[in-house]
Amino acid sequence: MFNSPLNYTGNKRKLLNQIIPLFPNNQNFFVDVFAWSGLVWLNSDSKKIILNDNNEYILSLVKYFKETDTEKIIDTMDEIIIKYGFTDSHRNWLKSYKEEKHEWLSKYNKQPFNKLKKDYNKQPSVELLFALVVYGFNHYIRFNSAWLYNVPVWKVDYTTSLRKKTIEYSEALKSKDITFFDTDFRDKKLYVYDGFYYFDPPYLITQAPYSATWGETEEKDLLKILDKLDKKWLKFALSNVIEGNWKSNEILKKWAKKYKIHYLNRRYLNANYRKKNITIAKEVLITNY
Ligand SMILES: C[S@@+](CC[C@H](N)C(=O)[O-])C[C@H]1O[C@@H](n2cnc3c(N)ncnc32)[C@H](O)[C@@H]1O
Repeated sequence: MFNSPLNYTGNKRKLLNQIIPLFPNNQNFFVDVFAWSGLVWLNSDSKKIILNDNNEYILSLVKYFKETDTEKIIDTMDEIIIKYGFTDSHRNWLKSYKEEKHEWLSKYNKQPFNKLKKDYNKQPSVELLFALVVYGFNHYIRFNSAWLYNVPVWKVDYTTSLRKKTIEYSEALKSKDITFFDTDFRDKKLYVYDGFYYFDPPYLITQAPYSATWGETEEKDLLKILDKLDKKWLKFALSNVIEGNWKSNEILKKWAKKYKIHYLNRRYLNANYRKKNITIAKEVLITNY
């Protein structure tokens, strides 16, 4: 499975080996309406991709990876690491990493990160944004109401594995025919393709940095669009969470009865959810085929 260096914590990666086999083969187009970095289509066999997300920042990063020479992306990142004085575990495996574990990284990188953030907020560029995503908390892309990037530093750096993901992701993007859109999911121009439609919207009952603008109106509008696709005999798949953390998405549960619900199994590596007294989210893929 391909991975992306733009992945925030809690993304679809761990579910891909269950989702991808449920997709139909040989589709003319793969339309990913809520794409983020496009982890899902990246691992599908479609060559022609329609990639949409209303977050212009993530789209600028995806385009950067598609259009810039891979070596240049890595070289630019290395220049930023040197200029700002970030840790670089790929080249310098310091004793402190071992002794103080990863916490040390955030202590050391705090100052370089804050300087980088200040420079980016003064003069934004996609190269600096990528560095912020790499060193920032949970690899989030988040802005405050004045549109200033406001994520704190995290206990990570540009590891050997992240470099490998950068190369794989950039090369995979270059091998696909992609049409980009940065529009709202209700925009009609997204629905003119004779292909397979995949939806991974913000979830009504879970929290994520991109879910603030998602409410019942959006949920209902989306379900109407899916019904319309079904009437046109177009295949769709919808990722979502129907229950979890003592909440239940009744709108979705009721609607999904007319389609097929595939229950997915996310393997939880730690038992934190028990300590925090929350229930495991029931993640599903709902299909009309
Ligand atoms: C659950 S994430 C998608 C994650 C992606 N499938 C992955 O595995 O990396 C939901 C995405 O929907 C986008 N989004 C939120 N509201 C939207 C809207 N009204 N129209 C289009 N995209 C939207 C967010 O920017 C976010 O990237």
